[in-house]
Amino acid sequence: MCGIVGFIGSQQAAPILLDGLKKLEYRGYDSAGIAILNDSKIDIRKVTGRIANLCELTDDGKNCNGTVGIGHTRWATHGAPTDTNAHPHLSNDGKFAVVHNGIIENYIALREELIQKGYDFQSETDTEVIVHLIEMYYKGDLKKAVIKTSARLHGSYALGVVCTDEPEKIYVAREASPLILGVGVGENYFASDVTALVSYTRNAIYMEDGEFAEITPDSITVFDPAGKPIEKNISRITWDIQSAEKGGYEHFMLKEIMEQPRAVKATIAPRIKGDDIVLDDTDLTAEYLKSINKIVITACGSAYYAGCAGKYAIEKLCRIPVQVELASELRYSDPLIDEHTLLIVLSQSGETADTIAAMKECKNRGAKTLAIVNVVGSTIANIADNTLYTWAGPEIAVATTKGYTTQVAVLYLFALYTAKKIGSIEDKEYSDALKTVKSLPKKIQEAIDMNTGIANFAKKYHGVDSVFFIGRNTDYAVSLEAALKLKEISYIHAESYAAGELKHGTIALIEEHRPVVALCCNRALMEKTMSNIVEVKARGADILAVTFKDNQKIVPLADDMVFVPETDTIFTAAVEIIPLQLLSYYVAKENGCDIDKPKNLAKSVTVE
Ligand code: M6R
Repeated sequence: MCGIVGFIGSQQAAPILLDGLKKLEYRGYDSAGIAILNDSKIDIRKVTGRIANLCELTDDGKNCNGTVGIGHTRWATHGAPTDTNAHPHLSNDGKFAVVHNGIIENYIALREELIQKGYDFQSETDTEVIVHLIEMYYKGDLKKAVIKTSARLHGSYALGVVCTDEPEKIYVAREASPLILGVGVGENYFASDVTALVSYTRNAIYMEDGEFAEITPDSITVFDPAGKPIEKNISRITWDIQSAEKGGYEHFMLKEIMEQPRAVKATIAPRIKGDDIVLDDTDLTAEYLKSINKIVITACGSAYYAGCAGKYAIEKLCRIPVQVELASELRYSDPLIDEHTLLIVLSQSGETADTIAAMKECKNRGAKTLAIVNVVGSTIANIADNTLYTWAGPEIAVATTKGYTTQVAVLYLFALYTAKKIGSIEDKEYSDALKTVKSLPKKIQEAIDMNTGIANFAKKYHGVDSVFFIGRNTDYAVSLEAALKLKEISYIHAESYAAGELKHGTIALIEEHRPVVALCCNRALMEKTMSNIVEVKARGADILAVTFKDNQKIVPLADDMVFVPETDTIFTAAVEIIPLQLLSYYVAKENGCDIDKPKNLAKSVTVE
């Protein structure tokens, strides 16, 4: 969580930092601050709330003079979102300022040690120990102080440090939190994410765990943990600037929903060559795939639900057992995983702490790891044995949409690829299935076009206090994601239930006018789900059915209908979710919610 940014050069730093922080605001948005070096002093401005408040405080950066600075946007972990707890934090002697993204796990012990040594703490944060350690270890050489400080820290950090005694330098360090250096001409940058850099430079250096760097206006030197300089590649940032902006849409979420046909196409098209699926960025050979006896998919939140949807396609086509596990549970479950397990890790950001930990645990037990990730150069992509990128472009809204559908699409490709390699699919079934996967971008577009009127349903649903989503099999998988979408952005309680399971207790909650969204896109189980619809209808529920255009059977049972184009059941999730994303969006809008930045959330969950 949290976003950090830094600039050193000859331009005024504050406006550049504020611009970068606006791009990083999705990472956390409860308070923000900047520190600017000016005339051997550090000018710190910080404020509770959004970057807009910081812009107001600094007159858009115009009242902060200086060409070297660091900035931070916070998602509170240690201490409430207050001005005092906001970063940057200043050392007692006023010589050092620090911004930090991550968690210092041993901060209590360090804090006690520093207090005993006479250091005075202003905030409740874990971060403040870092700036006091730097002051303690500083003997005229900031590099040495950063090395000594980093060696004392347990946990995760991406740090930016400035020092009045060495005003022509910024030091940065990384351990398990994203950090990217932007290479300019006569000026350089750092940030948590390329979105903050792309307006200024397209040349980036991706820092790895344990590395730190000295940044001056004309040079960037990266060091290993012992302080030895290391060579780093400069990568080209390919994301365009527009893709990180709203492009005329009121919210990033709506823009990202609308981008899904393009995002899914960009993800699947380069991997389909004629009748072959080519995953040449992996070493998943036929021999290896035949050797595995199970696949475990792990992830958090929507990425986990994408795994739930993908499981049906993999099991059906490959006949390999698939377990989908929450990363936060898997990591502590002493999992039964060995070299015959393929671990598939799903993550949009590639930085989710629990997912990283689960992945490391399974790797240690011998599993080969395949990451399906959106952010190039992210931690998960770096750790994985194989990575398949989802080419969705930057996803800024906290609620994922194109992240989810592109993950699902890659799982479909993987399922078909594996089935072909291990010989578990007939040629005809393979070519029909491939045709369906190729048609997904078009079907997603049709699902968007068929639901332009969905805002009207939102007027009916926005005032309710609880909504149930029900479905069976693939419909159930989609209902999990649909319920999460609604609750995270509209703050309406929503619960997903396997339709056949309701009568085992939860049906007690169905009462007059309780909205029940019934997902009915699985033709084989249609009659079964219809029986469940009848059960809840008999108890007074209002039914919104999601089904195919020509499915007239449901009409007499439903109060409202939402349609999607029919898609082969095992590949339907990427299409079926579309109207439900739109419904959540419009309900949240009716409720006046901050759609792109829902309360209490952050885009990238880098804490356990
Ligand atoms: O970046 P990741 O895909 O690893 O994030 C996992 C979850 O935090 C994420 O999917 C979350 O549930 C979404 N914001 C929900 O829309």
